[in-house]
Amino acid sequence: MKTDDSEILNKNLNIEIELLLEALYRKHGYDFRNYGKAHIKRRVLHRLAASGFNFVSDLQHKLIYDDNFLKLLLDDLSITVTEMFRDPSFYRSVREEVFPILKTYPYFKIWHAGCATGQEVYSMAIMLKEEGLLDRAQIYATDFNQMALKKARDGIYPVDKIKEYTINFQKAGGKTSFSDYYTARYDSVILDQSLKKNIVFADHNLVTDGVFAEVNMVVCRNVLIYFNKELQDRVFELFEHSLVPGGYLCLGSKENLRFSSIFKKFDVENDKEKIYKKHYLSRSTV
Ligand SMILES: C[S@@+](CC[C@H](N)C(=O)[O-])C[C@H]1O[C@@H](n2cnc3c(N)ncnc32)[C@H](O)[C@@H]1O
Repeated sequence: MKTDDSEILNKNLNIEIELLLEALYRKHGYDFRNYGKAHIKRRVLHRLAASGFNFVSDLQHKLIYDDNFLKLLLDDLSITVTEMFRDPSFYRSVREEVFPILKTYPYFKIWHAGCATGQEVYSMAIMLKEEGLLDRAQIYATDFNQMALKKARDGIYPVDKIKEYTINFQKAGGKTSFSDYYTARYDSVILDQSLKKNIVFADHNLVTDGVFAEVNMVVCRNVLIYFNKELQDRVFELFEHSLVPGGYLCLGSKENLRFSSIFKKFDVENDKEKIYKKHYLSRSTV
């Protein structure tokens, strides 16, 4: 095929994908129009191959007339891969650098945005419990993927993941034994139900919904990498509005606040783990 032909095909494909996202937004209210193009293209082509259709336009028709197809497409577009104590050094830093401040508060709130199937939230709850802080915490765990949220609420995970989770827990500086926090049943483990006592799981879309609550700490890791710069800026503003003065924004090593418009309102607490602290006063107005 000549280069010109493949360029035209590629342009046509991009148009079809844009129209599919438009239909998804106008029919169902889910707005993926400002997600990274490469990510969306990969995921749509995956769905196209699995569906047996020839054209992305065929998916658009199915999306408009078949509600079951919505679930499939949403699952394709929202990557819910996660694990307990993922990137253990992040948890170690939170424990050593943020918890000492939280310990000075009688009560505090944490928002996990894009919590997927919940492993990140339970990891935080275990760490808070180890530090005697769980009873003082109100944790909000949100995602827009209903199937992921259901798994998060259940807190039941495949037993074959436990070895990996245990290693992560130890690397994260876990003080007790990870086996204290789950019960094995056949091929699953059920997490200690008392961990979710102070966790509220809720549906929240970072693109279309507003501030969820006023919190002392926002944790949002491995979510913004799928957004384009414009959308990242919108979500950063949402987080800035959600945080109390002196609150922490914890993004994890793959995201970066530095190039956003709100960077000037934060101090860098940990540059590797991307932990930021909101100024007590807006210094741009001082
Ligand atoms: C790769 S997972 C990250 C899970 C966890 N934070 C971690 O780091 O292990 C990304 C999650 O972001 C969620 N997500 C993507 N776009 C979202 C949006 N607009 N609003 C809320 N959640 C979103 C997906 O549903 C998915 O569960």
